[in-house]
Amino acid sequence: MKGIILAGGSGTRLRPLTSITSKQLLPLYNKPMIFFPLETLLNAGIKDILIIVAPGNAGDFLKLLGSGKEFGCKFTYEIQDKPEGLAQAFLIGENFLGSDSATLVLGDNIFEDNFSEAITSFQSGGRVFAKEVTDPERFGVVDFDENKRAISIEEKPNQPTSNFAVTGLYIYDNTVVQKVKTLQPSPRGELEITDLNNVYLQDGSLDVAFVHGKWFDTGTFESLFEATQFVRERELAKA
Ligand code: TTP
Repeated sequence: MKGIILAGGSGTRLRPLTSITSKQLLPLYNKPMIFFPLETLLNAGIKDILIIVAPGNAGDFLKLLGSGKEFGCKFTYEIQDKPEGLAQAFLIGENFLGSDSATLVLGDNIFEDNFSEAITSFQSGGRVFAKEVTDPERFGVVDFDENKRAISIEEKPNQPTSNFAVTGLYIYDNTVVQKVKTLQPSPRGELEITDLNNVYLQDGSLDVAFVHGKWFDTGTFESLFEATQFVRERELAKA
């Protein structure tokens, strides 16, 4: 199992904070944001990690994170020239993955859960993690049938059919690269991870698990603030 942290994007909703730096380098209390998704992968035992960044701040990521030695792992870096979608991570990461499976984590997602069990028990197909939220229209939303089986995932629906959002941690087998190659960009010009998840869902190989602990997607000022408070409380509890 290899890991990918997707830390590009434009962070337009957080301007002017992101006018001169990347969202994933902003502080969450006492650490840069990217440390948290990195911890999620490290805590799950993943040691070979690709970090995908936007061209503008690539040097800063390298300066901050280095080779990975300090974290007991190995980092590889790639640049995403334009923010053309989350699923593009697997095209950029094709050589890095070789014949391995992949766990992708978004560089602005903060999880309380430990995913070691979900990752070690993973064999094939895809596994995503849903969480009940109050603002599902911001996310990919999972629709369940009466037996609680996922039947579809819809990207940022105007009329969400459930309150369950797909969070920013995704586990896929090695067919992911071929599957992404069959996708067409969406009207907003992105290779959508929701389309990828629907490919797995349609071939009957998508497992929808649940996030039990807290989860933050720090794309807005409100969620950035809430995540900062969470990290602060956790740090103070440790002291
Ligand atoms: P988003 O929050 O959807 O996008 P963004 O970070 O560009 O922000 P905004 O909508 O405010 O402009 O992205 C989720 C995460 O994925 C975030 O960590 C950035 C990353 N990302 C990429 O690395 N490449 C991409 O092509 C996209 C769309 C996102």
